[in-house]
This record gives sequence, structure tokens and C-alpha cells, in this order.
Amino acid sequence: MRLINFLMKNVNSKIEFYSRFSPSPMSIQQFLDFGRENACEKTAYMFLRKELAVRLANTLREVTLLPSSLLDQPALKRVQNWYIQSFEELLRFEDQRPESGHTLNDFLDTLNRIRDRHNDVVPTVAQGVIEYKDKFGFDPFISNNVQYFLDRFYTNRISFRMLMNQHTLLFGDATAHPKHIGGIDPACHVTEVVRDAYDTARMLCEQYYNMAPQLNVKEVNTKSSEKPVHVVYVPSHLFHMLFELFKNSMRATVELHENNSRGLPPVKALVTLGKEDLSIKISDLGGGVPLRKIERLFNYMYSTAPVPSLDSSQSAAPLAGFGYGLPISRLYARYFQGDLNLYSMEGVGTDAVIYLKALSSESFERLPVFNKSAWRHYQTGPEADDWSNPGSGPRDATKYKSNK
Ligand SMILES: Nc1ncnc2c1ncn2[C@@H]1O[C@H](COP(=O)(O)OP(=O)(O)OP(=O)(O)O)[C@@H](O)[C@H]1O
Ligand SMILES: [Mg+2]
Repeated sequence: MRLINFLMKNVNSKIEFYSRFSPSPMSIQQFLDFGRENACEKTAYMFLRKELAVRLANTLREVTLLPSSLLDQPALKRVQNWYIQSFEELLRFEDQRPESGHTLNDFLDTLNRIRDRHNDVVPTVAQGVIEYKDKFGFDPFISNNVQYFLDRFYTNRISFRMLMNQHTLLFGDATAHPKHIGGIDPACHVTEVVRDAYDTARMLCEQYYNMAPQLNVKEVNTKSSEKPVHVVYVPSHLFHMLFELFKNSMRATVELHENNSRGLPPVKALVTLGKEDLSIKISDLGGGVPLRKIERLFNYMYSTAPVPSLDSSQSAAPLAGFGYGLPISRLYARYFQGDLNLYSMEGVGTDAVIYLKALSSESFERLPVFNKSAWRHYQTGPEADDWSNPGSGPRDATKYKSNK
């Protein structure tokens, strides 16, 4: 018991130490340059053993600012323990020189192990949030904190996996795509990814509904009209966002039009390249969402979808799960300084737009930093509304009416 206490104290002081450093954001161009020019495994190791510890420590410190009633949920405890274990495993490399013995191979093994351990973080956290909601109900203050926290926590996770993947793909045994640099495609053909994501979503949709809308794709390259649109990007991130948007559009389209004698209206994709932005619009005629509800769709605590099973043996994956499709896709878009917005015309349909930076030198990682202003965010309660609220007008409104 004393040994465990001693070890915990040591880990906590290390978390404290590493969390004082801010993470160092990398641009896609820097990832690319490093991977291209005879990437040096020792240099990468020296950078990563500290940078990964810094990113983990920043998030571990922030976790402790959540209310204990939330942190006490078993699923969230489990996730917290995964993070502490991974942090400890990284600390073992603190004093290991890259030249000595098996250090570099051990490091690769450790990264693979950490990645596997954290595979189910998103559904497990979602489960923890649902457990909390079932016990304590919905509280706007907690929801506000959870929203702020999870946006940062999941961004941290995306970034952490990006760094680990680059390292294991460049230096490990896994065979990367011959034209990719780690997980980055220096000439990612955007329309191809659009079609891949559509095909995968269509398969799911047909399995579930026995029908799926067609796809119409249009491309506008304002820089060079006859060339297809290419971007330096992480194709798996782009695929993730598009797949989520297609699933949503297909579900809305089928549910509104399945009994329509004229068939299903197609889903449209428009890919455009300007000087600064590469934009991808996915449009459907699935009936849309009223404006009042749009912001909610990005809220982790609001999801009304029935809880999907974590049991992977279940067949026929549904088209809607935890309600995390949109919020996580927006984080992927924002991670490299892009964005994802939804524009809906209620009763008719929805346009979802993904914005990416056209230039890889401008796509810097957008990372959460644990500091005073982050800390303050968790302490302040909901402020009084500083805009008028229709429910709180003059108390005796009838008085004014009666004068007419
Ligand atoms: N194109 C769309 N048309 C109509 N409603 C939509 C559209 N996209 C999203 N929505 C609404 O927004 C909700 C949230 O979408 P989101 O993708 O975040 O979660 P989900 O689809 O419910 O579950 P999953 O986690 O599997 O994606 C959907 O349940 C749906 O009600
Ligand atoms: Mg969805």
C-alpha cells in the first residue's frame, strides 16, 4: 500500500511537471518535411517522448477540474486509469538514450500498446456521460463544462494519435501507402475520398433501409479549372468527416422520402478550391432541422439517440449512434484550422460544409492548453443572460394591453 502511495505521488508530481509546458503545435507542412527528408528516428524519439508526455499531462490536469460526481462514474474512472497508465509507460523513456540497446524498438512497441489501449475512449466516455445523466439528470452548468472539456479532451486525443501514427508508420513495421508520408497524403484527391465515404455510407444505408440515395458530385477549382482538386491532408480524417455527413444525409433522406413514388432525391457534393479555403458542401433534401436545434446537434450531453450497445458482436450497425458524429467531425475539421458548419432550411433539407485550409503551411494543429484561463472556465457559473428573454418581459403585460 505504501509503495502504491509512493508511486502515485511520483506520477502526480510528474503530471504537474509536464503540464507546465504548453504543447508544440505542428503544421501539416512540418509533418511532411520531417517525414520526407530522410526522417531520423532518433530525432523523432527525442521530440515525441517529451511532447507526448506534455500532451497527456495537460489533459490529465484538466480532467481533475471536472465535478467529482461526474468523474466518479465507473466508465470515466476506467478512461482516467488508461491515461495514467500510458503516461507512466512514457515516463520510462525519460532517461533512456536513443542509442542504447532496444530503446527505439521498445518505444515503437509502447506507442502501439498505448494506441490500442485508447481505442475505445470515445464510446467509453460517452457511456460515462450517459451514466451520469441517468443518475443526476441534465444540468446546464455541468453540460457547459462537459462540452468545453470534451471538445478539448477529444482534440487532444486526435492530436495524440496523429503524432503516434506518424511515428509508427514512418519507423515501424506497418506498411504505409507508398505515396503517403505516414498518414498524410501529399496529393489527396478530394473527390475520390468523397466517393469512398459515400460508398461506405451507402452500404450501411442499404443494409439498414434496403435503399439509399444516389450521389451527384461537382468540382470547382478556381486556381486551375481543368485540374482536379488536391490537398495535402490526412485522408483518414477527411474520410471520417465525410462518412459522418453522408450517414446523416442518407438517414434524413430515406426517412422523409421512403414512401415517395418518385424515389429518393440524390445527395449532392460540391468540392471547391479557392486561394485560402478548400470547401466541401454535402447537401440533402432530408427535411432539415429547425435553427433553434442546430447548436444542440453539436452538444455531447443533449443526444437523444437511444444508447447503442458497445457489444461488437451485434450485427447491422445503425446509421445513428451516440450522437457524436457531428461534434467529433467538427473537431477533426478544426484540428488543422478548418471548420464544419450546418445550414438547414427547415422542412426542406440541409447543407453541411467542411472548410479546410488550402495551404498545408497554414494548417497548424489547434491544441488545448491547460492554463489559468482554462481553469477559470470550470469555476465560473452560468452568467445571467444579457439579452432579453421572451419569458421575462414586464411582469404585468396585461396592464399595457388593457390601455388600448
Ligand atoms: N442532414 C441532416 N438532416 C436532418 N437531420 C440531421 C442531419 N444531420 C444531422 N441531423 C440531426 O442531428 C442529429 C445529430 O447528428 P450526429 O451525426 O451528431 O449524431 P447521430 O447521427 O444521431 O449519431 P452518430 O453518433 O451515429 O452520428 C441526428 O440524430 C439528426 O437528428
Ligand atoms: Mg450521425
